[in-house]
Amino acid sequence: MIVSVKEILEKAKAGGYAVGAFNTTNMETTRAIVEAAKETKSPVVIQITEKTMEYAGGRMLYNIVKNDVEFYAPEVPVAIHLDHGKSFEIVKRAVTIGFNSVMYDGSRKNYEDNVMVTKEVVDFCHEKGIPVQGELGNVPYLFEHKMGAVDWDKYMTDPEQAKDFVEKTGIDTLAVAIGNAHGFFIEREVPDWDRLSKIREIVDVPIVLHGASDWEDGKATEAIKRGVSCFNVDTNTRMAFVNSLSATFKGQSDPGFDIRTILGEAREAVKESVKHKMNLFGSVGRI
Ligand code: G3H
Ligand code: 13P
Ligand code: ZN
Repeated sequence: MIVSVKEILEKAKAGGYAVGAFNTTNMETTRAIVEAAKETKSPVVIQITEKTMEYAGGRMLYNIVKNDVEFYAPEVPVAIHLDHGKSFEIVKRAVTIGFNSVMYDGSRKNYEDNVMVTKEVVDFCHEKGIPVQGELGNVPYLFEHKMGAVDWDKYMTDPEQAKDFVEKTGIDTLAVAIGNAHGFFIEREVPDWDRLSKIREIVDVPIVLHGASDWEDGKATEAIKRGVSCFNVDTNTRMAFVNSLSATFKGQSDPGFDIRTILGEAREAVKESVKHKMNLFGSVGRI
């Protein structure tokens, strides 16, 4: 069933586990996430970016997600979330379509402007009962950097400022930067654990960690212990999909033309990668 992300993440925060927020781009990935959640009895956030809305049609993909949840997994708590909304307009578009959770990402703005626009988004969304995620500090992207070239100090979330940001904007969840990055292979060697603990100590709302594709084993567990309630995962899912396609085409002299077989295998690969993350985050059996 479609439920509020607030309900999903407040429960995770109280229970000391985390939930995955997985990006989807098409029917196959959506079905894979929904089936993974159903098979593992795991609450989940399914999220769509602006670029994906342009690619697939926001309304089209939203309806695929909603239909999949209601038809295949009505017992699973799912929130449908706009990921990295970079303007008020895109937030309004998502809300009009029916998304029940949004992120407004003003992390590249100066602090005052980030506070101002995030607060406007919060006022608009809260009137409609929709929770808002804000971002402070900045989570870098792989395509902006070469390996090892990130000046991490420029990106980190300042804990005191985070407290002020949450109080001034009224956001429901906070995306933080503690050495995490979008894409593989550019994470800070050791996350700034003390910074995360400090943020958790003085900020009340659930904490979201973007760029969690390569947060595995000890690292994810430590982050949960120190207060992360939600991990955003995209690259890992895309790689599972693309690697499966690539194996199909390279591994067989004649893979045939039945795209249901070919995409069906990719869907299975995505499902396994999502189940792995759900186990890692501790959301299994939490419905
Ligand atoms: O952080 C979000 C995504 O990984 C970026 O996705 O290429 O759909 O904007 P996008
Ligand atoms: P990755 O692609 O690094 O998993 O990041 C996903 C993300 O943060 C989506 O908002
Ligand atoms: Zn992100």
